[in-house]
Amino acid sequence: MKKLIAQGAESKLFLVKDNVIKNRFKKNYRIKEIDEKLRKFRTKREAKVLQKLEAINFPSPKLIENDEKENLEIEYIKGKLLKDILEKNNYVELSKEIGEKIAILHNNNIIHGDLTTSNMVFNKKVYFIDYGLSLFSHKIEDRAVDLHLLKEALESKHYKIWEKCYKAVLEVYEKKAVNGKEVLKRLKVVESRGRYKRKH
Ligand SMILES: Nc1ncnc2c1ncn2[C@@H]1O[C@H](COP(=O)(O)OP(=O)(O)O)[C@@H](O)[C@H]1O
Ligand SMILES: [Mg+2]
Repeated sequence: MKKLIAQGAESKLFLVKDNVIKNRFKKNYRIKEIDEKLRKFRTKREAKVLQKLEAINFPSPKLIENDEKENLEIEYIKGKLLKDILEKNNYVELSKEIGEKIAILHNNNIIHGDLTTSNMVFNKKVYFIDYGLSLFSHKIEDRAVDLHLLKEALESKHYKIWEKCYKAVLEVYEKKAVNGKEVLKRLKVVESRGRYKRKH
């Protein structure tokens, strides 16, 4: 039996037995060729990152199958979205765990690309999901932007607690990430650039 469990802007998620099928559906507003390329690229990228993450034992869904087009079959992570539980739990502790996990990704040259609490599932520990926008990179700039996107997500979805959360994320990140200090320095530049952009 196939049960729709979530529908995002780009994909539909179906639960089939213990697995999730992630289907990146057609977007009619995109030029057909570009749309196909994009869906294929993101599906393949997500599959590749998931394989790498399994190899390093990082808490994320295991890849089951990849049609290299628009469908991924991945392990279902039973649990709750961080978005729904962060505020009702020990959010500082959870944020520290998030900081540590981001450091592990970056230490393996993986940039998540969409760090939000909708892309994190909690079941005894925090699992990161949704790697369609990920990239392999060793650049300090890409790491700083990854953290900046998390900041924006926390600010908009968890505006009452976001500052404490973000501070805890960065504290642990700085300790655990190779070049952590440098990334945080760059983060300040990224943030000042963001403010500048919004003003003009
Ligand atoms: N492996 C998984 N285990 C459990 N839930 C998942 C899994 N993958 C996706 N989901 C659920 O589906 C939602 C959308 O999936 P996601 O991969 O984030 O796609 P999108 O690119 O559309 O955001 C998630 O926020 C989560 O609720
Ligand atoms: Mg998502």
